[in-house]
Amino acid sequence: MQLLVAILPVLLGIVLGEDGSQGWLRYAPAAKGCKSQQVPSAIVALNSTKISPVYTAGKELQRGLRSILGKAVDLTTGGRSNSSAIVVGTVDAYNTAYGSVSGVEDLEDDGYLLSTHDGSVVILGRNQRGALYGAFEYLSQVARNNVTSGSSYISNPQVPIRWTNEWDNMDGSVERGYGGASNFFRGGYVVDNTTRAAEYARLLASVGINGVIINNVNANATLLSDRNVEGLGRLADAMRPYGVQLGISLNFASPNATLGTFDPLDPKVDAWWANITNQIYKKVPDMAGYLVKANSEGQPGPLTYNRTLADGANMFARAVEPHGGVVMFRAFVYDNHISYANWTSDRANAQLEFFQPLDGKFDENVIVQIKYGPIDFQVREPASPLFAALHNTSTAIELQVTPEYLGQNCHFVYLAPLWKEILDFDLRADNKSSMVKDIVSGQRFKRPLGGYAGVPGAGTNTTWLGSHMAMSNLYAYGRLAWDASLGSEDILEDWTRLTFGSDQIVLDTINDISMKSWPAYENYSGNLGVQTLTDILYTHFGPNPASQDNNGWGQWLRAGNVTIGMDRTIENGTGNAGNYPPEIAEMYNDIDKTPDNLLLWFHHVPYTQRLKSSNETVIQHFYNAHYAGAASAQTFVQQWESLKGKIDHERFEHQLFRQTYQAGHSLVWRDSITQYFYNLSMIDDESDRVGNHPYRIEAESMKLDGYKSYLVNPFHAASGFTAIVTTSNTTAGTATTEVPFDSGMYDVAVNYYDLFNGTSSYKLEIGNRTVGVWKGDNEKKLGHEPSRYLDGHTATRITFRGIAVQKGDTVRITGQPDGIEPAPLDYISFLPPGIVD
Ligand SMILES: *[C@@H]1O[C@H](CO)[C@@H](O)[C@H](O)[C@H]1NC(C)=O
Ligand SMILES: *[C@@H]1O[C@H](CO)[C@@H](O)[C@H](O)[C@H]1NC(C)=O
Ligand SMILES: *[C@@H]1O[C@H](CO)[C@@H](O)[C@H](O)[C@H]1NC(C)=O
Ligand SMILES: *[C@@H]1O[C@H](CO)[C@@H](O)[C@H](O)[C@H]1NC(C)=O
Ligand SMILES: *[C@@H]1O[C@H](CO)[C@@H](O)[C@H](O)[C@H]1NC(C)=O
Ligand SMILES: *[C@@H]1O[C@H](CO)[C@@H](O)[C@H](O)[C@H]1NC(C)=O
Ligand SMILES: *[C@@H]1O[C@H](CO)[C@@H](O)[C@H](O)[C@H]1NC(C)=O
Ligand SMILES: *[C@@H]1O[C@H](CO)[C@@H](O)[C@H](O)[C@H]1NC(C)=O
Ligand SMILES: *[C@@H]1O[C@H](CO)[C@@H](O)[C@H](O)[C@H]1NC(C)=O
Ligand SMILES: *[C@@H]1O[C@H](CO)[C@@H](O)[C@H](O)[C@H]1NC(C)=O
Ligand SMILES: *[C@@H]1O[C@H](CO)[C@@H](O)[C@H](O)[C@H]1NC(C)=O
Ligand SMILES: *[C@@H]1O[C@H](CO)[C@@H](O)[C@H](O)[C@H]1NC(C)=O
Repeated sequence: MQLLVAILPVLLGIVLGEDGSQGWLRYAPAAKGCKSQQVPSAIVALNSTKISPVYTAGKELQRGLRSILGKAVDLTTGGRSNSSAIVVGTVDAYNTAYGSVSGVEDLEDDGYLLSTHDGSVVILGRNQRGALYGAFEYLSQVARNNVTSGSSYISNPQVPIRWTNEWDNMDGSVERGYGGASNFFRGGYVVDNTTRAAEYARLLASVGINGVIINNVNANATLLSDRNVEGLGRLADAMRPYGVQLGISLNFASPNATLGTFDPLDPKVDAWWANITNQIYKKVPDMAGYLVKANSEGQPGPLTYNRTLADGANMFARAVEPHGGVVMFRAFVYDNHISYANWTSDRANAQLEFFQPLDGKFDENVIVQIKYGPIDFQVREPASPLFAALHNTSTAIELQVTPEYLGQNCHFVYLAPLWKEILDFDLRADNKSSMVKDIVSGQRFKRPLGGYAGVPGAGTNTTWLGSHMAMSNLYAYGRLAWDASLGSEDILEDWTRLTFGSDQIVLDTINDISMKSWPAYENYSGNLGVQTLTDILYTHFGPNPASQDNNGWGQWLRAGNVTIGMDRTIENGTGNAGNYPPEIAEMYNDIDKTPDNLLLWFHHVPYTQRLKSSNETVIQHFYNAHYAGAASAQTFVQQWESLKGKIDHERFEHQLFRQTYQAGHSLVWRDSITQYFYNLSMIDDESDRVGNHPYRIEAESMKLDGYKSYLVNPFHAASGFTAIVTTSNTTAGTATTEVPFDSGMYDVAVNYYDLFNGTSSYKLEIGNRTVGVWKGDNEKKLGHEPSRYLDGHTATRITFRGIAVQKGDTVRITGQPDGIEPAPLDYISFLPPGIVD
């Protein structure tokens, strides 16, 4: 019976684990007879305190070995080092137990030594956290069947600060999160149940993340209520066994309610922050620190009182300094009411203008946290020039794991290559090697601190991020924060082996989809450094390039009917190119030296400007890239389908649904963007694809009963600019026509609009046979920002494959409206084999 109890969870675990909740820590059973089975038969964790990271490491090793190898391994917390044991602990504890250990001189805080010799394994950290990281690394090797016996090495992190920034709101929502509700808050308060927080900390610790800011940078002062401060203590307790420290975002105006002021130079305000900080440290003695978004996008800050941003940051720095805490101060400060009429105004200049004059004025425990590019997590940006401009200030890079502007985990984009391009970029400060990764590690300007802040958007969904494939981004974020010299493909391979197993076809396929994913998305969204071209005023999801121009937000394209692009040159433009160190400034200022993929970021050019790399015109490149990107997204579906039976059914189907959705929505992107720029420029596509859809029947051209035409806004979000909607919001409508195409086998695709707050039902009949029925309920499954309109966010495709069709067959689509959703339809395509349209 004992045995059964021990084995059952293992057996169940295999089945239950495939909902994604274990992420890459699912510890799948190894194939029989593999060399990893030669692991020691005892574990010694050199700390008996149940909540200590070293004890956690012992438990994790036990759990992992049982699950991977089906082997029950004893865990003790002391005693003689058995020659065949895994010993895990700090160097000090090891020395106390067994006498002095050698070879650990180079071991730094959070680093680990991993040594495997003659059937024994020694895992040591300078601190407890390091020992835990070493245990996770060893388990990763066992899970990948790649333990090297007879080796010993040290791995140290490149930076002390490796944090996530969770944008969780206290009402339980997650800003820019696509994987469900908050794990930390519900109804204005910290949750009572901290199980998920602990599970999340486990995932993060396994890739070396040591701090979590648990609430949105758009922070609420009610976080500091007595009840919530108690709650912070609870969350910190849950994450501490994994060596993950809790931190919080602050609302700068928090003291205003009691003091009537939040002036950082008012001693009353200073004392208020010192007091509340002391209160928090009573509950969370190891709090990591504060994150502050001030004077940005409507948030309060020191500028209200004509104080500098450094005055503001230092006030918090003084409060946390006695407790060893740090302040992450966001550089994302800009005016969102700048003048579009003014050719030289430029939001991309704001951060440098605010922060460069303050270089050296921040306290030592302040880190200025800088987004990777000067605007806002676009599909392509140059590295922020601010990284090179602060020589006497510690800096961190902010990376968005949650792809706010890159498909919101309904499109899959593997982000490590994008991050690597920024991290490896050499800004040439003082004409010397100045790679971004060496600046934020503190190495380049000899700063004591530095770090990484990643915004995951994790939620209560069992998948954490809403998509299984997206977890490669969270994994890669942690790995790169530890060591930015790792390669994107190597990281991905480790993740794939852990997440989906080591079948070569699985590895190759996931590698291929992942490495093509960013180029594909860039191709069908915004090219040549023009930005993502999503709707910046609404959902940040679907296409709407017009939303970017003619407003105060400064995410401009400056797209006219003859020319396009931001002139950021020094002589004629906004001068932004001159914000970079001289060698880089010279490159970006010169259109002949600027890389094509940033052409429109730095230069305003005619649509007929030719690219250096391909000799295409800008407009023809837009057309070609959008067709190529969307074509690439179609192949991801077939590639994913080739994994059927090679990975578990649940995750296979979950991801297939998303890849299929992406393939359809990539066509919405393609058609929208090409149509929009064709309408502006009136320059024909050399290949005659744009606006030319021979396989489509427009819904508005069908015989309508209970349906009417509807002009879609923006116009380019509908084929032929027009869709149909039911005339009533209760009664079904039909659209009918005859198949005008030759008899044969077709994939039949229907484009419709899937709005928030309504689940319309559809039926497609051809020749009086029902080809398909479906519901407009994707808003319940996909998790991207919702929309109430017929637009580029709601435009959706469903495809029925391999349908035998006779010329002259009656085609009938019946749409039953529901809620605010009037069963909207755009067109139906009859696609012969090999055609995508
Ligand atoms: C064991 O862990 C606890 C909790 O982290 C810590 O306070 C204690 O110092 C550790 N003991 C040793 C011997 O490392
Ligand atoms: C196994 O580990 C070695 C050394 O760390 C590494 O070079 C190799 O790529 C790993 N192989 C697999 C299959 O993970
Ligand atoms: C802060 O939280 C309180 C209580 O939940 C809520 O009433 C208030 O609207 C929130 N304020 C902001 C700015 O979100
Ligand atoms: C706490 O949350 C976990 C994970 O969501 C759940 O399995 C468990 O049942 C919850 N516990 C309680 C007491 O509600
Ligand atoms: C500060 O409080 C005053 C009233 O005392 C109020 O008018 C003002 O809006 C508050 N400012 C902020 C940023 O909360
Ligand atoms: C310090 O903060 C606590 C908790 O908010 C509060 O109860 C107390 O009155 C404050 N003390 C002072 C001197 O402001
Ligand atoms: C800040 O300075 C401006 C002009 O420099 C002035 O008009 C304003 O009243 C000042 N505000 C405060 C709060 O001191
Ligand atoms: C245009 O913007 C620049 C840069 O912000 C500013 O220096 C200049 O005064 C502005 N010109 C006008 C006419 O407002
Ligand atoms: C381009 O725009 C200008 C000004 O908006 C307008 O005068 C001109 O007619 C347009 N040209 C074309 C070809 O549409
Ligand atoms: C600025 O404009 C002038 C005149 O159009 C042009 O000759 C020059 O090349 C431009 N300079 C830059 C850096 O774009
Ligand atoms: C680029 O294309 C244009 C138009 O076809 C042609 O005149 C020109 O020679 C081409 N340039 C290069 C370098 O191929
Ligand atoms: C959450 O996960 C479940 C199970 O994987 C899935 O059915 C659901 O669609 C997910 N929700 C979101 C928003 O991704």
